[in-house]
Amino acid sequence: MRFSSVSRYLLAVVFLILPFFSAADEVEVLHWWTSPGEKAAVEVMERQLNDKGLEWKDFGVEGGGGGKAMTVLKSRVISGNPPTAAQIRGKGIQEWASLGLLTAIDDVARQEEWDKKLPGLVSETLKFQGHYVAVPVNIHRNNWLWVNPEIFKKTGLELPETWNDVFRIAPQLKKAGYIPLAYGGEPWQASAIFESVLLATGGADFYRKTMVENDPEALTSKTMMETFETLAHIRTLFDDNSSRRSWDQATQLVIDGKAAMQLMGDWARGEFLLQDKQPGKDFLCIPAPGTQGAFVYNIDSFVMFNMPDEQQKKAQQTLASLLMNPAFQKEFNQKRGGIPALDLSEGQEVDICARKSRRDFNSSMEQGTLVPSTTHGMAAGERVQNVVSEVVSQFINDPGADPAKAVKQLSLAIQTIR
Ligand code: BGC
Repeated sequence: MRFSSVSRYLLAVVFLILPFFSAADEVEVLHWWTSPGEKAAVEVMERQLNDKGLEWKDFGVEGGGGGKAMTVLKSRVISGNPPTAAQIRGKGIQEWASLGLLTAIDDVARQEEWDKKLPGLVSETLKFQGHYVAVPVNIHRNNWLWVNPEIFKKTGLELPETWNDVFRIAPQLKKAGYIPLAYGGEPWQASAIFESVLLATGGADFYRKTMVENDPEALTSKTMMETFETLAHIRTLFDDNSSRRSWDQATQLVIDGKAAMQLMGDWARGEFLLQDKQPGKDFLCIPAPGTQGAFVYNIDSFVMFNMPDEQQKKAQQTLASLLMNPAFQKEFNQKRGGIPALDLSEGQEVDICARKSRRDFNSSMEQGTLVPSTTHGMAAGERVQNVVSEVVSQFINDPGADPAKAVKQLSLAIQTIR
């Protein structure tokens, strides 16, 4: 009787203490890498973290582009229960840091000499008031066109270099039974097309004037009008079932030989590779029409939330150090697309798309044609990002929408929320 009450007491103690022990070794990471190719890359992260003695608690939130993940994250933080780390990009890092919720990673950064290792453009994005508050895992290129070469071979058509080329070949592709451009109707997918068309129409300076500086004159200019006119034409390249298709389902259409092309960031490469498709043979990556030599970039990175527990703080440092490890970044990005953020030297990638990305990143930086993605929160904060996605997707998804009205609506909306 006495024994059983003691053991009950011990059990109670163990159950009370256990969660603290397991939580200390556990790293809960919010992300939105939930497509098959992305999941394969997350497994690399999980495995390498396990090797460091930490448990991975997956907090993947479905929804390409991360919009849903950000909503879920906000509700977790508001309820006082943030995850250990979360995938946050670009201007979002500053927005979260200004709320005082993020922990500085300066110790690890100093010990591992991040300032020396990271290109200035990357480290600037990760710092708030001079302190590192985020860790990068890659650099993505958003202005890629993914092509099924077999379809071009069968139809005898030339690969397009401009949107006019695409419009010229589209009727033949349709006649042969192919969807010219695979697309899913989600707002961020519309925005991804928009930013590449904007760059193709106005060039890098005009892109920066509109999307970074939000200059009212540029936003209502003739070039902006031309951008929306081209978008109206692009609408005719989609199939009737495109609305609400996820980005990887759209990629699958290219893989399966149903669609000729898709405009998408280089995470699409992960889907092809997972299905044993060879770049340069089974699929091609060419710059989005009219954007040769330019590069729309996006940096995936992770922030760490303030944690009271010392063990958790240590776990965050281990995670930060792992994410910055060159071997990790190499394996991770080989699986999912994108190029490591750490080392800009050329010739390190085995994949021809990644090699081209690396070369174009470096040359666009020299030539001033490197621009931050609006769709993925690099050019402006979340509010501008959302307004652009909403206005552009309403325009693209409505066959009767008027370009002049859309130009006014976008400029007005941006001015109002700034
Ligand atoms: C992220 C990528 C991700 C893509 C699709 C982008 O916002 O930067 O890492 O693969 O969304 O979900």
